[in-house]
Amino acid sequence: MHLSALIQDFPSQSTFKPSPRPYFNHSVEFKSAQTPEARAKKLDEVGLNVFSFPAEIITGCDFLSDSGTTTMTSEQWAALHLGDESYGSNRGFFKLMEAIHETFGAEFFNDPSTNQPNAFLFHQGRAAEDAIFKFIGALDDNQIIPSNGHFDTTHANIEANGMKAINLFSPELKDGNSNSHFKGNMDVSRLEKLLQEKGDKIPVIFITITNNTGGEQPVSLQNIKEVYGLSRTYKKPFFLDACRFAENAYFIKQHEEGYKEKSIKEIVHEIFSFADGFTISFKKDGLSNMGGGIFIRNNGLFIEKYPEILDGLMNYQIIKEGHPTYGGLSGRDIMALAVGLKTIVRDEYMNFRISQIQDFGSSMAEAGLPVLKPFGGHALYLDMNKFFEDTALKAGDFGGISFTALLLSAYGHRACELGYFAFGSYDSKTGEETFPEVNFVRFAVPRLRYEKQDLDHAVASVKSLYDGRDKIPPVDVIYGKELTLRHFKARFKFRNS
Ligand code: F0G
Repeated sequence: MHLSALIQDFPSQSTFKPSPRPYFNHSVEFKSAQTPEARAKKLDEVGLNVFSFPAEIITGCDFLSDSGTTTMTSEQWAALHLGDESYGSNRGFFKLMEAIHETFGAEFFNDPSTNQPNAFLFHQGRAAEDAIFKFIGALDDNQIIPSNGHFDTTHANIEANGMKAINLFSPELKDGNSNSHFKGNMDVSRLEKLLQEKGDKIPVIFITITNNTGGEQPVSLQNIKEVYGLSRTYKKPFFLDACRFAENAYFIKQHEEGYKEKSIKEIVHEIFSFADGFTISFKKDGLSNMGGGIFIRNNGLFIEKYPEILDGLMNYQIIKEGHPTYGGLSGRDIMALAVGLKTIVRDEYMNFRISQIQDFGSSMAEAGLPVLKPFGGHALYLDMNKFFEDTALKAGDFGGISFTALLLSAYGHRACELGYFAFGSYDSKTGEETFPEVNFVRFAVPRLRYEKQDLDHAVASVKSLYDGRDKIPPVDVIYGKELTLRHFKARFKFRNS
């Protein structure tokens, strides 16, 4: 009997969960052993601000961000070694051009059929945002840039350049009874109304994939097509904030009719076929530790309407970042990025990536923890209002800050408060706090870095704090409550301590 026939008598490998990881560890770094007391002492010294806690002594998972925290593959490390640090037209520039052509389409990177450079490399996403919004902002007064959800740096860069950033979240995002898989969609009817009423003030429409600010939920291709349709009717360029383009494509493959049989790569191509341009931070789905850029379709509406912006962008890039063939990046970073882009669209990579987050989320939910659903592609959000619902903690007690301080010191996991403190504000004149609508702690999962047992330990740690939630004290803000971007800078103290 043939072996291939014999194996049919046994259950298929796909019935065993979890599946083996699609990679193995190439090299590892041991963590330094630290006691909870040592961590507590250090965290006290930095005023309970987890951003200021030395990463080197984190013994659990570092969930502060999925940005730039990727573990690179051995191919990327090898490519790094081949980095060419020439001042103009380094080797990596051509490799990256090829990778962008392959991933997003030749029309986004210096298509040889045109002489006009249309791709601009920056050191990270926000530098690219600053550049493009500077030029768009100069077009007119009182302009508005609508999005399904601007990330906070995008929002800040739009407003710093004299424009208004508007988020048109999908109504399903806040509807707890909605089963939609695409809660990151843009509210198309509100967009149409805005285009009718204030269309002359809208220079460009943005869609962020996945919608990080909107609970990191994905956007459907149908929604992208509808927004694109309106952008053609009203003759407005359509841009993507594409940081997590491959994760978004995976959700389309999973949940949107007609895409099951398509590869991630094919879906990515379809998404970008609608874009007149995109901004991106390669620190997410570039599978890289650094990098960002602006890529403008060479035959698209953006270039047609604002042709002068391209030369402006190039001058700006030369003055602020570097020659357009390296932008704000070293040659070795560019090499690692070119390879990262090829890995990120591999179906087996993305299957693993998303199933790891889904499994992490299911474990949290099974432990009875108030985790936001559906789980997205790069992070889990814990609803702190529900977490502290039956305790004496009030909004101004900043329980989310107390929680992250305890999680880090007692159990060695670093999560990030993105709620009443991070997005709230303090009015020095009235002495009043204004709180945002939502109050989350985020667990962003770095790519290719942690294994199931790391995440299981994090779940057990959160559960332990949840069980003892009535013992979690409030914090007082001892520095920085009136500052902008205050969560990066503030210092806290447990009350009565
Ligand atoms: N756009 C989105 C959707 C983002 O999530 C980020 C960064 C940026 C733009 C800016 O890119 O960091 O390279 O300047 N998000 C990170 C996070 C910081 O933790 O969510 P950058």
